[in-house]
Amino acid sequence: MQLLDGKFVSEKIKAEIALEAADFLASSGRKPHLVAILVGNDGGSETYVASKMKNCEKVGFKSSLIRYNTEVTEAELINKISEINFDSEVDGLIVQLPLPAHIDPEKITEAINYKKDVDGFHPINLGRMMRNLPCFIPATPYGILLMLEAYQINTSGMHCVVVGRSNIVGSPMSVLMARNSNPGNCTVTLTHSRTQNLKEMVLQGDIIVAAIGKKNFITADMVKPGAIIIDVGINREVSTETKSGYKLYGDVDFEQVAPISSWITPVPGGVGLMTIVGLLKNTLASAKGEIYS
Ligand code: GUN
Repeated sequence: MQLLDGKFVSEKIKAEIALEAADFLASSGRKPHLVAILVGNDGGSETYVASKMKNCEKVGFKSSLIRYNTEVTEAELINKISEINFDSEVDGLIVQLPLPAHIDPEKITEAINYKKDVDGFHPINLGRMMRNLPCFIPATPYGILLMLEAYQINTSGMHCVVVGRSNIVGSPMSVLMARNSNPGNCTVTLTHSRTQNLKEMVLQGDIIVAAIGKKNFITADMVKPGAIIIDVGINREVSTETKSGYKLYGDVDFEQVAPISSWITPVPGGVGLMTIVGLLKNTLASAKGEIYS
């Protein structure tokens, strides 16, 4: 078993991003700029957004956090988004999900200018991704591709089993792994909560992408020996063992599965760190006009 080390790879790529950000500042007179909107005080969202902001500063980007309490209306949010859409000093705009129940995430996603949609959630970006056109790729799948690339894992011809069909991870991941590129060129099976014989399906995977949001869901009896394991799960539980008061668990039972895998991402220290890299790369690409001019 070898570790797909998110800490090592993310630090290496962030150093490259920092150099490019410095070049961008020298030539344009400004830093790449990411704006995040956070509604409410969900603990997980607070942590993720704080980490996104901190990493922006680390690589020499400008970051702005706009906060609202949970009573904010959909119209108020859309007004703010429209304002930012026209701000030529903003390269990327993300609205942290989930949103309170009275706000329709689809309306919010579509309100964002797709040219600043560095989360890659807008239907135009997802549609362009389907057609292999330049676009912002959702940050978590993008981070996973960067990880596979960093370890020079040739996925061509492999059977990739994705567990979970979310708009953010499972669904785009299945498309990307089937694409004619490397990483990619896989035969893909997209499984979900209604899949029959899930265990037999997952057992066929040369690569397993676990994005179901359930602690230790993938157990050793579901994994073919030698499989590559990508664990997207970030399941937070209250704990007295850690300084933060929380402990993170993946969707994969690491203790059981690691010994029979060829490569595996740890939680924490795996995909989560790469998601931030995906977001930073999208923001830089936006600033440089590499995707849309
Ligand atoms: N919630 C969970 N993951 C994400 C993400 O990648 N982007 C946003 N905006 N919200 C999320």
